[in-house]
Amino acid sequence: MFLLLVFLLAVLPVNIEGGKIIWGKESKPHSRPYMAYISFYDSNSLQSNCGGFLVGEDIVMTAAHCFGSHINVTLGAHNIQEWKNTQFIPVLKAKPHENYNYETWVNDIMLLKLEHKAQLNSAVKTIALPKSHDRVKPGQVCTVAGWGILPNCISPKTLQEVDQEVQNGQKCYARSTNYNNSIQLCVGNPNNRKSTSEGDSGGPLVCDGVAQGIVSYRFCPYTPPRVFTRISSFMPWIQKTMKLLEQP
Ligand SMILES: *[C@@H]1O[C@H](CO)[C@@H](O)[C@H](O)[C@H]1NC(C)=O
Ligand SMILES: *[C@@H]1O[C@H](CO)[C@@H](O)[C@H](O)[C@H]1NC(C)=O
Repeated sequence: MFLLLVFLLAVLPVNIEGGKIIWGKESKPHSRPYMAYISFYDSNSLQSNCGGFLVGEDIVMTAAHCFGSHINVTLGAHNIQEWKNTQFIPVLKAKPHENYNYETWVNDIMLLKLEHKAQLNSAVKTIALPKSHDRVKPGQVCTVAGWGILPNCISPKTLQEVDQEVQNGQKCYARSTNYNNSIQLCVGNPNNRKSTSEGDSGGPLVCDGVAQGIVSYRFCPYTPPRVFTRISSFMPWIQKTMKLLEQP
């Protein structure tokens, strides 16, 4: 039996292989201006955080399992202990996917409408979304970034990032038959020591400048690959939901 692991308490870019800890690297400050730091209260009223990404001037995309109450977004962040020149914007409306299933983790996608538009500048920018027919290919190398926290409470102050290789869907299906390659991506080469680190839940998998995936869950044991929401397969839902969120 496998266990699915929640990333509400997100994970640091780290992987343990043969006793060695392999870290991702610190992102160049503001080189990923679409990154959003999300905080919220979960169903147990505990404060938690996730990654997300700006897809419209007042719209942030993240994972549905990052849903909670009193959700706030911080844009333009690098060092989350300094909060210099950041934009803190509370969330007005949160729309998790109606068919998100917390047992199988399918449809793990959510859109957040901010209380007001972000001020776009060199540190705060939107990222492009894919077209419906876009297919990410196994072997393609993409990047994930996040501010995760390890259960042992070591947390990076600054945004970390790591390269991740897209895998053939069979590799994830072999670990859980809940994996559905038409709506999910299987990411992270189990044999590549340098690309096995983790990012935050809700953060984007960026391939050639386009947000193709959303960090969703990992298998237990934690060895890669892990599962991301395949954004291109949700484009009709995204367009419909964005229209809904535009209404006052
Ligand atoms: C979000 O911000 C509001 C203030 O605007 C605050 O009352 C609330 O506690 C914050 N939520 C979290 C999860 O920190
Ligand atoms: C995979 O997801 C698609 C879209 O939601 C669905 O139509 C299909 O039945 C799913 N496949 C399996 C095997 O569950």
